[in-house]
Amino acid sequence: MTSEISVRPAKAEDVPLIFENIGYWAGQGKMLVRPMNDIFENLRDFFVAESETVNGKEFLGNGALHILWGDIAEIRGLAVKYDVQAKGIGKKLVQACENEAKRIGIPKVFAWTYSVEFFEKCGYKLIDKSKDLHPRVWSECLRCQFYAGCNENGMIKQLDVPMPYNLPEPPPAQIPPGI
Ligand SMILES: CC(C)(COP(=O)(O)OP(=O)(O)OC[C@H]1O[C@@H](n2cnc3c(N)ncnc32)[C@H](O)[C@@H]1OP(=O)(O)O)[C@@H](O)C(=O)NCCC(=O)NCCS
Repeated sequence: MTSEISVRPAKAEDVPLIFENIGYWAGQGKMLVRPMNDIFENLRDFFVAESETVNGKEFLGNGALHILWGDIAEIRGLAVKYDVQAKGIGKKLVQACENEAKRIGIPKVFAWTYSVEFFEKCGYKLIDKSKDLHPRVWSECLRCQFYAGCNENGMIKQLDVPMPYNLPEPPPAQIPPGI
């Protein structure tokens, strides 16, 4: 990594690198596996961090913002490459996701995570999983390998964005057993 880090919306050509990066961390038990078709189908959610090197652009990591309802969006697929950890790249990807939420007019950003300290540094607060959870945050739980014994932490950040004035009620939650 030889130059300043930049973050931009992902392109189709980034998908193999995103897939590989998420696969690496999924293999370490840090995040959910994401099939390549899932990445393509949700590619407009994704941002990529990169830097300029003498050999061209270097891929540094990825993160995504997935809209759950009119008042909440989820950070998903956040992963910084193993060899460029702790250089501020994760924080920049989270910031890009938050800017996107603001642009769209969504006031809350949520994450399921094991990286509590990192998200606290980004201004997120832990929430009690037995209450206070928006019904839409369970949307991916049914395909999670830890569905029956979820030990991830729910974290949320309130952005300086007004609530949409005409927000309909979300459908009821599908809550995993044991929560
Ligand atoms: C979690 C992750 C995205 C953080 O990215 P990163 O680029 O290493 O983190 P940053 O350098 O942006 O760190 C931002 C701040 O968080 C702190 N931080 C990061 N990881 C931390 C950790 N594990 N424990 C304590 N603090 C941590 C940093 O010290 C930094 O603090 P500062 O703002 O006071 O300097 C990265 O470690 C990662 O890809 N992990 C594996 C996949 C994963 O767990 N993804 C999250 C799924 S939701």
